[in-house]
Amino acid sequence: MKFNKICILGLGYIGLPTASMFATHGIKVVGVDTNPIIIETIQAGRIHIHEPGLGEVVEAAVNSGNLSVAAQPEPADAFLIAVPTPFYEHDFGQYDGQTYKKADMRAVTSATEAIVPHLRKGNLVVLESTSPPRTTIDLVVPILERSGLKAGRDFFVAYSPERVLPGQILRELIENARVIGGIDPESAQAGHDLYATFVKGEIHKTDATTAEMVKIMENTYRDINIAVANEFSRLAERFGVDVWEAIQLSSLHPRVKILKPGPGVGGHCISVDPWFFVECAPDLSKLILRARQVNDSQPEFVVELVKKALGSLTGKKIAALGLAYKPDVDDLRESPAVEVVHLLAKAGAAVKAFEPFKPEAALPGVDAALTLELALKDADAVLLLVDHTEFRQLSPETLKTITPARVLIDTVNGWEGKDWTSAGFKLFRLGVGK
Ligand SMILES: NC(=O)c1ccc[n+]([C@@H]2O[C@H](COP(=O)([O-])OP(=O)(O)OC[C@H]3O[C@@H](n4cnc5c(N)ncnc54)[C@H](O)[C@@H]3O)[C@@H](O)[C@H]2O)c1
Repeated sequence: MKFNKICILGLGYIGLPTASMFATHGIKVVGVDTNPIIIETIQAGRIHIHEPGLGEVVEAAVNSGNLSVAAQPEPADAFLIAVPTPFYEHDFGQYDGQTYKKADMRAVTSATEAIVPHLRKGNLVVLESTSPPRTTIDLVVPILERSGLKAGRDFFVAYSPERVLPGQILRELIENARVIGGIDPESAQAGHDLYATFVKGEIHKTDATTAEMVKIMENTYRDINIAVANEFSRLAERFGVDVWEAIQLSSLHPRVKILKPGPGVGGHCISVDPWFFVECAPDLSKLILRARQVNDSQPEFVVELVKKALGSLTGKKIAALGLAYKPDVDDLRESPAVEVVHLLAKAGAAVKAFEPFKPEAALPGVDAALTLELALKDADAVLLLVDHTEFRQLSPETLKTITPARVLIDTVNGWEGKDWTSAGFKLFRLGVGK
């Protein structure tokens, strides 16, 4: 199948790089977003997200005349949906006495509805947003059929998950293996033909629900493996063991690879997607729910560790280093570090946080310092929450000159192996009961 023009709904971390990729490979792309600031920014030749190399590619795509942006879709050969699929903040489900989070599919619904007036015979519609199983056939197809056309007979529908790593999106969009699930084999083939425009990785065709499950399974697998590492950190403390050493030794087994514990799991993928299984089949997702609960409760475990290190939290000044959900990124979404800061403040500590990738971040309930020095100035204790390179590289000698604190609490194993004791520090490490 040949595509001359496509319309991409949602111009965020996924939609904008994808739009510019198609546009720089000779396809006319109309990028659609409901946020007028994003439209204005791109029209002015700038971008609104931090992703290496993206600014140049978007500029080239706009200058070539192949990428334009608009507030509403228009007729095209294919439509791609890459809008957010978060969970509801205040609306929970209940099953068997347990609470679970529910997917907020309003953006997918409204983006699909916006396509309906423009849908023509022979079109392809692809959902890329991470979605609960059966979303393509149970939510997207019925909305599209309000056009009077019949899916599978008059137009093609597919689901294609995205697995790119922020910071490497442009390379991974091209090189990663891609899965395309069609509502029928012809739809999968149409999706294959579309992505083959720029994808150099293998393209695997399957059905739509399998493709949806593949994406959620990938992130659930990682969530469960991090949960077991977090539980190992609690057990190691109980048994007087150093979990980091135990993980390293266990991973010498040729078929064992244990992930790292830490203050919890964050970001908008791994900490969100497993809920889609729990919501759709709570009776069959008990391990998945437990893993989510373990990871969501890890910030409380960190607070207990800080309490142990300081005796009491009331009035204690704590410098919290890092707010991002993982090392060396500026993304604070669903970050467990932020949750730790909230819990410490609630327990009566005076917390000054510093996030080098977003020092100006204004988060409710977080007192953020603009520099490392300001966060550390009067501290009683220093709490390492994110393994940013900048923090890992701090030496005992440097730290000694910028803070009066002599108690360090390391939740990410960033400061292991340095001689903190002879510099006068007392180091407490997550998962170390020795
Ligand atoms: N960011 C990632 O690394 C990543 C990786 C894999 C999968 N995903 C999934 O991809 C989807 C998009 O994620 P993202 O990170 O690009 O989100 P994002 O928040 O960066 O961007 C989404 C964009 O969609 C726009 N939007 C919302 N409703 C709309 C509508 N009805 N019509 C048009 N535009 C609309 C928003 O204004 C926003 O600009 C999500 O389902 C996410 O889980 C993201």
